[in-house]
Amino acid sequence: MEYWRSPTAFATMVAMPLAVITGASTGIGRELAFECAKGGYDLVLTARSAAALQKVADEVKAKTGRISTLISLDLTEPGAPQTLFDSVAPAQSDVEVLINNAGFGLLGFFHELDTDAQLDMIQLNVTALTHLTRLFLPGFIARGAAGKKSYVMNIASTAAFQPGPLMAVYYATKAYVVSFTEAIHNEVKDKGVVVTAVCPGATRTEFQNRAGLNASKLFSGPHVMDAATVAAQGYRAMKAGRSLAITGTINSLMALSVRLVPRQFAASMARKFQEM
Ligand SMILES: NC(=O)c1ccc[n+]([C@@H]2O[C@H](COP(=O)([O-])OP(=O)(O)OC[C@H]3O[C@@H](n4cnc5c(N)ncnc54)[C@H](OP(=O)(O)O)[C@@H]3O)[C@@H](O)[C@H]2O)c1
Repeated sequence: MEYWRSPTAFATMVAMPLAVITGASTGIGRELAFECAKGGYDLVLTARSAAALQKVADEVKAKTGRISTLISLDLTEPGAPQTLFDSVAPAQSDVEVLINNAGFGLLGFFHELDTDAQLDMIQLNVTALTHLTRLFLPGFIARGAAGKKSYVMNIASTAAFQPGPLMAVYYATKAYVVSFTEAIHNEVKDKGVVVTAVCPGATRTEFQNRAGLNASKLFSGPHVMDAATVAAQGYRAMKAGRSLAITGTINSLMALSVRLVPRQFAASMARKFQEM
């Protein structure tokens, strides 16, 4: 299709600002693709499913006219972040936004869940996110020196704010994302780069199917948000230069309240929400 650009075609592309989004085939990442397109960016969309990415690209093109380049990758492969970066390298000076959104969780006792699956979770939620940030940040700092602003958005979770029995590794990965993001925000805020951690609470996406959370209390209440609202709030927070954004008023209040109670009480509450 005319708006499909193979990575090698970047060199011939008109210089539009680009937003690179991981996990853009469904859920929050898909909606972030629409937010960025509405904001005037052409897109580099990645996920494993090429067919689902193509569908998002078709819809983005129809609704906003913006062009997407699709790169199908499994980011649990240790070399995948470098492959993604190298694919985008010919257009690196046009990349203005990096959104590290791809991630997943798993419900169950740590000692019973599959070892490789939990290590893959760390690879995707933590290592790939860190690696991509490290690869793109020097280019963003160079853009900053030339007076051009850039943005990194890392999708964390309200899971970041307390220990999460029955999703121990997932909660720990998101605590890492918040801590890492706030630290990097501080390091580069005077260099023309905004780094924002976005913390959604329960949000209707494919996430709960993959995590095995469909029947949990966490995903059965009226507080569950839709992905489009989460993406819109996250995008606004990034553009406003915030280091941390919790989506939704109830989620913000919950995140605040866990600071006021003993950590083990907060852990017990998190477990109750995850139980069926
Ligand atoms: N939904 C919630 O309640 C919730 C709450 C807080 C935070 N979050 C966070 O929000 C982010 C987006 O999740 P979502 O809710 O939108 O879930 P989702 O609908 O399952 O989307 C996850 C995205 O990540 C991609 N992905 C998964 N594994 C991948 C891999 N190995 N390599 C490359 N891409 C991969 C998926 O595409 P493919 O399967 O095609 O690869 C998909 O595009 C995640 O970081 C999640 O932890 C979600």
